[in-house]
Order: sequence, then C-alpha cells, then structure tokens
Amino acid sequence: MQKIIILDFGSQTTQLIGRRVREMRTFCEILPYNKFPAGDPDIIGVILSGSPLSVYAPDSFHPDLSQIVGKYPLLGICYGAQLLSYEFGGKVESVQSREYGRAMLERVESSDPLLQGIEGGTQVWMSHGDSITALPQGYRRIASTGSVELAAFRSSSLPVWGVQFHPEVEHSLIGKKLIENFVCGICGSRGEWDPESFIDTTIAELKAQLGDDKVVLGLSGGVDSSVAAVLLNRAIGDRLNCIFVDHGLLRKNEFKEVLDTYLGLGLNVIGVDASELFYNDLAGVEDPERKRKIIGADFIKVFDAEAAKIDGVKWLAQGTIYPDRIESLNITGKTIKSHHNVGGLPERMALKLCEPLKWLFKDEVREVGRVLGIPETLIGRHPFPGPGLAVRIMGDVTSEKIAVLQNVDDIFIKKLRAWGLYDKVWQAGAILLNDSTVGVMGDERTYERAVALRAVTSVDAMTADWADLPREFLQEVSNEIINKVKGVNRVCYDISSKPPATIEWQ
Ligand code: XMP
Repeated sequence: MQKIIILDFGSQTTQLIGRRVREMRTFCEILPYNKFPAGDPDIIGVILSGSPLSVYAPDSFHPDLSQIVGKYPLLGICYGAQLLSYEFGGKVESVQSREYGRAMLERVESSDPLLQGIEGGTQVWMSHGDSITALPQGYRRIASTGSVELAAFRSSSLPVWGVQFHPEVEHSLIGKKLIENFVCGICGSRGEWDPESFIDTTIAELKAQLGDDKVVLGLSGGVDSSVAAVLLNRAIGDRLNCIFVDHGLLRKNEFKEVLDTYLGLGLNVIGVDASELFYNDLAGVEDPERKRKIIGADFIKVFDAEAAKIDGVKWLAQGTIYPDRIESLNITGKTIKSHHNVGGLPERMALKLCEPLKWLFKDEVREVGRVLGIPETLIGRHPFPGPGLAVRIMGDVTSEKIAVLQNVDDIFIKKLRAWGLYDKVWQAGAILLNDSTVGVMGDERTYERAVALRAVTSVDAMTADWADLPREFLQEVSNEIINKVKGVNRVCYDISSKPPATIEWQ
C-alpha cells in the first residue's frame, strides 16, 4: 500500500501531520528523523516535521537527506523547511522577534502544485524562532506573509518544497488543502486507506497470522479493546476468548450494560465479578499510586487465572493504537525512546502478541468501529481511567463511598446526555471529597459529603481546559444530586485547566 513517511524532528505537532495525511485516505508512518526506511517500494513521498531546536543548535538533527532529495517528493515544515534551506546553501537566521500565531499569506504562486486553489489573504499559523532569509540556488519563493518573505518555497528542478508555517494545525485555514495538494496531487496518492479496506486487509492478515490458534483478549469497556475484539471476532470467530473483569470501580450499572452489548455483538466473552478481591486489597489504602499498583496487580491476577482456564491459548490480543507505539524523540537527551507499553503480560503468560489496531489513530479506531457496526454507546464514550472510581475517591475506597459516587456520577452523565452536552466534552465525571461539610436541610443542620464535578475539553488529554457548561445546567445537576443522593450536601465545579492541574484528581 502506498505510504508517506513523516520524519520526526521532535515537534509537538508531528502526530497531527500524520492525522492530516490519513484524512487524505493515505497511509503514513511517523519515524525518528534518522530512521528513513530507504528502499521501501511503497513510499510515495516524505515530510520533514518541525522541531523545538534551531538548525544552529549544537545538538540539532541533521540527517543525511541524499536518499530522499530528488528521489521522492519532499515537503519540509518549519524546522524541516529551515533544514532544507540550510543544508543546500541557503541562509537561516535567528530573528529578533520570534513569530508565534496567525499570519496572512501574500504573493501566493497559485499555479504551483503545492498551492493550487490557495489564495492570498488566508490565515496560516506560525511558530518559529529562526527564519529563512536566503534560499539555496535553484530554489524560489512561492508565498510570503507580512513579516516572513520566504514563507513557502520550492526547488525549480527537484520535487522539493518547504513551508515556514504549520499547515497541520487547525488555525492554518489552508493547511488541509496544502496537505491534500502534496499528498494527492504531487505524491499521487490513490486514496487507498479507508476503514473498509483496513477492515478487509486486517481480517485477511489476522486469519493468516492466527490460523487455528486461540486468542485471549481483555475487554475494558473502552473503544480500543472493543474494536480490536470485534475485528478479531470477524477473523477467527469463537477462537477469540474475551475476558471482561469487573473490579467494582466502574460507573453505575456499567458492567452489566457493557457486557450485554458485547454479547449482542456476538463476542465470546466471559464477565468476571472480582470486585470483592479489589475492595479487600484496597481497604484502608489512601495513596493514589498504591491504589493504582494494587488495581493493576489484581487485574493481572484475575486475568491470568481466567485465561489459564482456556485450553491451548497461544496469543494475547491488545487494543494498542498507533500513538502508543510511535517512537518519540527525547529532545533533551537526544535519545530515542519507545512509548510502547505492553505491561509485561505476554512474557509472563508465554503468549505471542497480536495488536490489530497498531496502525490506527484514535479517530480512525472510532471510524472502523462504526463500520463494524459497534453501537455509538460504546464508540462515542468518554475515556475512563483504568483504576476507575478508585482515583476519583479521595482517601480510602469503601463500597459505601463507591455507591455514593456512582449515583452522583450517574446523574451528571445522564444530564450531560439529556442536555446534548455529552459529545461536546472530552471527559466528565464526579469526585468524592474526603471531608464532610456543613449544610442545612429543612430545619436540620447536616454534616455530609461534598462532591466535585469535572468536565473538560481536550484533543488528546495532554492538555485540557474546564468545560464552560451552562449555569442553568450546573444548577439543575447540583439540585438533583443534593436532593437525590443521600449523604451529599454540597456540589462544586472544578474550574482548573491542565496544566497546571490534571484531569483526574488523583
Ligand atoms: P490526567 O489525570 O493525567 O489524565 O490528566 C489524562 C487521561 O488519562 C486518564 N488516566 C488514566 N487512565 N489509568 C488509565 O488507564 C490511569 O491510572 C489513569 N490516570 C489518568 C484520565 O482519565 C485522562 O483521560
């Protein structure tokens, strides 16, 4: 299958370039700047990403571009563009005023294949300290902005382009068109990458890879493991054995509802109620990290025991997705580290690892899930932390506290849905505080629990802002919680962003 290679120089928006290329129904791989897979016959083009470093920084990245330039269409973005200019004899200078934010394109050479359909006067997004002040010989300007003369350029004889701005970010209004021009026009993508073809080829590959072997998979109720399970089920039917562990820390009624959905999807799944084990091991534990460790260890214990009951399992399947695996550059140490986390489970269990979603971004997993007929209640659900409500209960975890929090959370989430707000926030939930607070109900003084509500907007959970929910909505939720949930007399709304706060309180 045709592919674009994106060489990563450490920019925060490298993954976004990948997503934009995929939106053009074109497969792409993000690789460290020095790992160009020369000789791969499927490559149709290369993109060089931005970087927090200057081309002059002593530890900046200067890979050998001779295997790329002139051999494949090449687009340099920001640092990528500066690198091209610098390497081929142009001039890159540190400018007095660093330029961040919006700029307007001017003097656009709209006949150039990269800029076709793009007019002057449209907004692009800049973020750079250095600027290209002279182009290498044989290169020419194809667009400027008010303060950047050489905002876009190309080689007159080779298929090489550079843009100083960031076409991959939403704020570059012509960015999508520019990437389309590069990927579909210049590189000649046939647009082969779509959910249907992904499903067909993956099912065929899984059949070939797994043969008659049995596979075990842990379902969490989340999108990734659910989509992986349905895909595998289509490939090998009941030889996929799914295990859904209830640690007793899920939302109200969630275990039963999700299990019913899984059964409705035809999955061979067993639900294991292990809540007592988790509650016992969590008793009296207040420290958040200890809670996480206990829950992680108990999960493995239960999963191991259940998997051992299935005869002849050879594979462990996981819902690992592409962002979990992209090797990212550690700019400070200049070392390459892998984010891939398989939790040590396959080694412990002497199983081979199967990861059918390993090439997909999150939004692609959802698209594939929809095409597979998985209901929206599973596909569109908010992220939920693995340790569940344990990290939303301040202090120790008891079944009484869990029940109170489940009722509060249930009211909040149902109201979000009823008001049409659920899909407008990234994630929402309730937190049970450890201290009681004074209130008055009727003529009586109360001394009961306080809860906090948290709803955030985000694109990837790395940063988040508190959701500006309507006052009338918050009022209705607060009234209902205090009236209906026994033991709660106060409701707060968390208005902290991440950073400096985090999404979860623990
Ligand atoms: P924070 O609190 O770090 O959360 O801003 C970022 C995202 O990660 C989720 N989260 C977890 N997920 N195990 C998980 O599987 C955990 O221990 C955990 N802690 C936080 C959180 O819900 C948010 O989506």
